[in-house]
Amino acid sequence: MTTNRTFTMIKPDAVANGHAGKILDHIIQKGFKVVALKYTELTPEKAGEFYAVHSARPFYGELVSFMSSGPIYAAILEKDNAIEDFRNVIGATNPQEAAEGTIRNLYAKSIDANAIHGSDSDENAEIEGNFFFADNERF
Ligand code: RTP
Ligand code: MG
Repeated sequence: MTTNRTFTMIKPDAVANGHAGKILDHIIQKGFKVVALKYTELTPEKAGEFYAVHSARPFYGELVSFMSSGPIYAAILEKDNAIEDFRNVIGATNPQEAAEGTIRNLYAKSIDANAIHGSDSDENAEIEGNFFFADNERF
């Protein structure tokens, strides 16, 4: 398993609002190397599969419909301590609780439209990266 990598998506709200470039720059300025990047769109089926771990939660339907509502950027990021450091860079799930200067503090409007995804473990980063990228699409 590859360590020191995480997976991210710039979510439909941030792409639609024109924030994707600023968010990518923010990520790079924080020391992450973008080792794979793709502009794409999730079908409801694919969004449901990606977030299947939340399928029993009350917000699952809204989450799936929001994540398939428009284009996203998917990316694999590399940095020492990538998972934890990236969660600190994106901030709390609810932007109202996200620390000053985090991506969700700067660019997210609500807990549903919260601008960005970050993997929560090395294992999930590997699974999520494989969900979007073939071996020949990444370094
Ligand atoms: P993500 O997976 O997208 O990076 O977000 P996260 O780890 O910060 O939060 P997670 O618990 O994995 O939830 C996934 C997404 O579901 C929505 N959510 N809504 N209404 C709610 O209580 C609630 N809780 C979670 C959020 O959009 C969250 O990003
Ligand atoms: Mg999560």
